[in-house]
Amino acid sequence: MNFEEYKKAVFELNRYAYHYYVEDDPITTDEVYDKLYHEILEYEENNPFQVLDNSPTQRVGDVVSEGFHKALHKSRMWSLEDVFNEEDLKKWLSRVFKLDDRAAFYCEPKYDGASLNLIYNGGKLIQAITRGDGLTGEDITQNARTIKTIPLSIDYMELIEIRGEVVIFKSEFEKINEERARNGENLFANPRNAAAGSLRQLDSSITASRNLVFLPYGVGQNTLDISLLSKRMEFIYSLGFKTPPHRATCKWLLDIEKVYAKMKDERESYEMMLDGMVVKVDQIDSQESMGYTVKYPRWAVAYKFPAVEKITTVKDIILQVGRSGVITPVAIVEPTNIDGVVVERATLHNFDEIQRKDIRIKDKVIILRSGDVIPKIIKVLTHERNGDEIEVHRPSECPVCRSELLDEGALIKCQNLTCKARVVNSIIYFASKQCLNIDGLGERIVKALFDAGVVKSVEDIFSLTLDKLLELEGFKEKKSQNLLDAIENAKGCECWRFINALGIEHIGEVASKSLCSEFGLDFIDAKKTELLAIEGIGEEMAESILDFVRVNEEHIIRLLEVLHPKVPEPKAEVKENPFKDKTVVLTGSMSQSRTEIKEMLESLGAKVSGSVSKKTDMVIFGDDAGSKYDKAIELGVKAITEDEMKEMLND
Ligand code: IVH
Repeated sequence: MNFEEYKKAVFELNRYAYHYYVEDDPITTDEVYDKLYHEILEYEENNPFQVLDNSPTQRVGDVVSEGFHKALHKSRMWSLEDVFNEEDLKKWLSRVFKLDDRAAFYCEPKYDGASLNLIYNGGKLIQAITRGDGLTGEDITQNARTIKTIPLSIDYMELIEIRGEVVIFKSEFEKINEERARNGENLFANPRNAAAGSLRQLDSSITASRNLVFLPYGVGQNTLDISLLSKRMEFIYSLGFKTPPHRATCKWLLDIEKVYAKMKDERESYEMMLDGMVVKVDQIDSQESMGYTVKYPRWAVAYKFPAVEKITTVKDIILQVGRSGVITPVAIVEPTNIDGVVVERATLHNFDEIQRKDIRIKDKVIILRSGDVIPKIIKVLTHERNGDEIEVHRPSECPVCRSELLDEGALIKCQNLTCKARVVNSIIYFASKQCLNIDGLGERIVKALFDAGVVKSVEDIFSLTLDKLLELEGFKEKKSQNLLDAIENAKGCECWRFINALGIEHIGEVASKSLCSEFGLDFIDAKKTELLAIEGIGEEMAESILDFVRVNEEHIIRLLEVLHPKVPEPKAEVKENPFKDKTVVLTGSMSQSRTEIKEMLESLGAKVSGSVSKKTDMVIFGDDAGSKYDKAIELGVKAITEDEMKEMLND
């Protein structure tokens, strides 16, 4: 490698990294990336005076500082005024319109992390300063250089301060905390603390290991000649920075409310934590004329989301027995309103988790409610303990049937197949929406049927009669008849529902649908090789199906006899063609939309899949094909161009 080649290689590696970290859309494999990385490293070791500043090798974080130096921001970093409801937002808007009746707005997420000021000059990152008191912060340049979403060089030569928030994605946060728990270290209470803590590490290799992400939200000192904030931000993104998961320009209150509602509803699906939406006046000249109060810009406001984290007290820890017998501890907490929902329980996953987090009855804890998942305890406030807290021990007998439990470490199981909890939960699952969809078989009724001795297994629900039901307390004629009708209606259900309802471990709705379309009801006779040939079914799932069928064959057959599930009509025979019965993957941009091509191929009897595996028969690629193409080559899967596909069709 000579210097010219080295420069090209650095450019190429930066391009790979940009697509991987900023665009979330890799254009090569890890292997290709690593190979080039090591070639560059080797060149740099032999030519230490030629190392380019923006080489990805310069992000490793091998600098340990004694402490951080104070550094001045070139222009002040401001805070934001908060509003919490529509009424306050209206008040803010009317103040803004009084100052400038032409004002329009740019809305973007308010990220929950630590703010950072990046100073670029001559196209290079020269300094990174934490917010500090807004005027002076700490110089953490060495740490910022390890963050892959901060470009070390940009295609813009003038001095510019780019401001943004450093965050940790939720998935990464969980990983870090799991590892800290394994090492017996204190857990981070939330992604914000984790981000801020990781940014201020004296050993930059720790920062490097944390996978921090930088999200830009504005500029400080600059000489940009762009008169709208929204356009300025587009320019900043184009320099190689990450874009927000959602952004919009708005004119009126109603538009702003709409964007707010969307962000609030979707925020659980975003990778980073948001604590609100920021509304900013879009016109820069208008921002300048509005100016600042002592603390805040008059032209921006943070429209906060309701908090998702609250402090509460653990009142009790109870044990639940699932349909597979697994015992799950659940914390009963002091009822707490989070985002409009009163939370009374939080999942604890398993006993290892209780021990790891050292959760005790009467502990004060922080609970997090996100989306529709069950709230969880993210931290115990151990400094609030007064000695009255009660430790909980691993159970040795089933809380429901009192039989001895099997302790497998992470999982503790009740092995009694006739345990009331197991039977009741199996029936509830069997009747649930994604299974046989039988209305009226909720927890209360199933328990009543079990206690009365009329239903002791899933099969028994099909021998219920009106007379039997009417003998039970609380079962009136109408309600009983409705239940019987709902059970009757389940007969002739779609075959995948039947498979799903069996509750085979690792087999959910998607796998049930694949099994049904491949084998219909003959799935009980499928061989392992046949199961493994189905896209999406791997070793563990195949074993689980075989095991289940071996143990439960008679039960399955009896259920089949009462239910007679419907098997989908075999698709009309398509003529022989090179794509019939082939598993095909499409990648890259093509002359038509990929959906159109997908539909065309499906009409020829092909199965179009989203990912390349050994089971893929061919990959059809267009321009800018990325990792799927590479994977095909790596696995020796046939790869053809769109034109070649068309030729095959014409032939
Ligand atoms: S703008 C001139 N925009 O929130 C306005 N700040 O409460 C200054 N933050 O210190 C800030 N997301 O760390 C702005 N989209 C966003 C933001 C954002 C998060 C943080 C930032 C700031 C704090 C103010």
